[in-house]
Amino acid sequence: MSRYDTQGRAEIESRIRKTVVPERGQIPMFTYTDPGVYELEVERIFGRNWLFLGHVSEIPRPGSFVTRTMGEESVIVGRGDDSIVRVFLNACRHRGMRLACEDFGEVNNWRCPYHGFTYGSKGNFLGTFMGAPFERVAYPEGLDRDALHLVEARCETYKGLIFATWAKSGPSLDEFLGNSKWYLDLVVGRAEMEVVGHPERWMVPTNWRLPAENFASDAYHTATAHSFLQRLGMVKGVDFGRDGYHVDAGGGHGLGVGVHFDGHSYFPEELADEYAVNLDDGQNQTLSRLKNLHGNIFPNFTFLIPNFIEVEGRRVSGAMLRVWQPVGANKCQVWSWHFVEKNAPEWWKKLGRRMYTQTFSSSGMFDQDDTENWEMQTRSSDAALYRNEEFVLNYGMGLNMPTLEKDEFPGPGDVYDGKFSESAARTYYKVWRDQILEGHK
Ligand SMILES: [Fe+2]
Repeated sequence: MSRYDTQGRAEIESRIRKTVVPERGQIPMFTYTDPGVYELEVERIFGRNWLFLGHVSEIPRPGSFVTRTMGEESVIVGRGDDSIVRVFLNACRHRGMRLACEDFGEVNNWRCPYHGFTYGSKGNFLGTFMGAPFERVAYPEGLDRDALHLVEARCETYKGLIFATWAKSGPSLDEFLGNSKWYLDLVVGRAEMEVVGHPERWMVPTNWRLPAENFASDAYHTATAHSFLQRLGMVKGVDFGRDGYHVDAGGGHGLGVGVHFDGHSYFPEELADEYAVNLDDGQNQTLSRLKNLHGNIFPNFTFLIPNFIEVEGRRVSGAMLRVWQPVGANKCQVWSWHFVEKNAPEWWKKLGRRMYTQTFSSSGMFDQDDTENWEMQTRSSDAALYRNEEFVLNYGMGLNMPTLEKDEFPGPGDVYDGKFSESAARTYYKVWRDQILEGHK
């Protein structure tokens, strides 16, 4: 039930239609923390897009599961006794109690802690006398077992990444990811990857979109917000985030590919053969010049190869995934996964863990800088003064910049020379606005 009446919603929609104009680089500040906007996002953005939930290596055996969130709803991501990965609403069909209260585990059956209704690992309500306690006495006329099947989301995987959507029809995951797959391969498809430990979680008092669009489209902030890297002597100059390519991959997915000109790969030599098998020529060529890579899959799934830094005298980076999980309009739970190549040499694995804790993690230096900015932006949006459509932000960088020709860069999408552009953010907001307003024109 909406907290807003139909008229209230129509007002918010018309305000968005009038003031969100990414085509001219205009995004109004009120959209970040307006509770009415957030309510529409939960329903129309999180209710129907493909959402990233985890990696297959987190649920390795039949019966393994993790609990995750889609929008504001808890879901179980489980591997059935047939080894197939499925996603269920974490709610018993009897009274809606959560079936899994743990973050992860392994089960034969799901047994509701409230009344004991029990489900198989495929989401099926168990057979007579097994599904409900004292069934013969409590339900002498029997139970409709099909109607008690757990609510199931559409689930698909790409290179081990598990996604699900509540949309019963619509694009497949492959179609949804589109051009971004070529770039995702560089992060998680370049070799056999494994999660290092469990994902970390922490809360940030920010609207969830600020970090999402930062990773999709904002290499520009690195020269100022992360200038410590240069002051600590970890990079040569504050322009470490500039060289490379800005990519608008379509569908609201955006990214930046940072390159160096040293003429040799920064990645471990020991893995070169595995990379060569898993990547095509263009991808391999890009990996050999890669200094960093950051991107976001619409709406809130971030992927990252952080800038190579020196740890114990060796240049090291890694592979990280993030989810910016909204917890209301002005609070966000960060989910952070660190991956490493399974067949990597020990030094790369060991120093990679150090790199993770030092750069992008709950203790990461980049995160300290970034979250301070996002928190203050969220407060600005919250302030009554700025809850005014006149306070329009400038997303105009690179508005008239031409795209590169296909023979100038091997990756797909609209590719721009140099990482300083806000083109991908503008497309993000076109998709965002159109999804929010779809069917309500
Ligand atoms: Fe940053």
